[in-house]
Amino acid sequence: MTYNDNFIRACFGEDVDHTPVWYMRQAGRYDPEYRKIKEKYSLLEICRQPELAAEVTMMPVRKLGVDAAILYSDIMNPVASLGVNFDIVKNIGPVIENPIRTANDVDRLKPIDVEKDLSHILETIQILDRELEVPLITFAGAPFTIASYLIEGRPSKGYIHTKTLMYSEPQVWFRLMEKLGDMVITYLRAHVANGGKAFQLFDSWVGALAPKDFEIYVLPTIKRIFHELSDLKVPKIYFPGVSSGELLPLLHKLEADVIGLDWRVSIAEGRRRLNDGFAVQGNLDPYVLTAPMDVIKQQAKAIVDEGVQAPGYIFNLGHGLFPEASLDKLRELTHYVHEYSATMIRQR
Ligand code: CP3
Repeated sequence: MTYNDNFIRACFGEDVDHTPVWYMRQAGRYDPEYRKIKEKYSLLEICRQPELAAEVTMMPVRKLGVDAAILYSDIMNPVASLGVNFDIVKNIGPVIENPIRTANDVDRLKPIDVEKDLSHILETIQILDRELEVPLITFAGAPFTIASYLIEGRPSKGYIHTKTLMYSEPQVWFRLMEKLGDMVITYLRAHVANGGKAFQLFDSWVGALAPKDFEIYVLPTIKRIFHELSDLKVPKIYFPGVSSGELLPLLHKLEADVIGLDWRVSIAEGRRRLNDGFAVQGNLDPYVLTAPMDVIKQQAKAIVDEGVQAPGYIFNLGHGLFPEASLDKLRELTHYVHEYSATMIRQR
């Protein structure tokens, strides 16, 4: 097998043989083999065993035929190095022991020490760099999304404590954004130094903000992150998460290569809102995967038809895979997008 770099080329807007495909949350509970591993070990226990974490990362690459791997980890892992105790609780998600709510709480957060506290993650990346025949995407949670867990203490619908802090104590908020921004920059830089070939910044929940508030309270930190990492030669992806269509026009000056779109904005409309300044990634509604295969293909075809109109397109979902998804359908979908896009690209 030769190394498949279609994903990297698409991120940089270069020519590809076929539209590259990967899925957010492609390592996960829809796979019976993964569920078996989870009977023995928790998510955090898997992450602490580099050989096992590397194996779990590679499983979907082998099974689905995708064009990129995404590191098996969680956006919460680096906050352990800041001195935050948390667990990933079954059927809930991240739960924080002592939520961050005051200036004192923010002051107590330590700077990240990747080599000392997160060496297992660097080791996993090194193993994957040796073994993979597709690029490895590493990732970090973006400051707003991480802050929402740190402040609420657990997954939340309305983000009441997060917004209370943001609107009522902006100085404390900006100090938290600064510290989380520093964390992300140091962490992602270490990923690339250890063999990461691209990275995605997950801002899964920032679509909860009005565009003008995103611009004031969050965007400056996002811009700083991409600016400070702009010397790295790897593709950089920003995923502004669900319901983020209204934020897209604000991203035009970001030093990122790719923007991830959710399913509420079409690929063509997403490109327009981004002023054609980026490659785009997305954006099948993950729940379409519950439909019969012909419906899935019809929806994927409509997305790919828009995607291949211009260079710089990566097929993905609009958000992460869910446990009820089917391995067989995902494999067939990947194959379909590869075949169909290759025909379209040859005709171009
Ligand atoms: O994509 C991948 O396959 C790589 C692994 C990955 C995980 N989390 C493992 C995981 C990635 C990229 C993440 C990122 C992550 N974690 C995000 C951003 C992506 C997104 O979906 O918006 C967020 C918001 C988190 C926080 C988090 N972790 C939540 C809300 C949950 C619970 C939700 C659920 O589906 O149960 C987790 C747990 C988690 N992280 C799981 C996995 C595979 C599911 C539980 C498990 O298998 O133990």
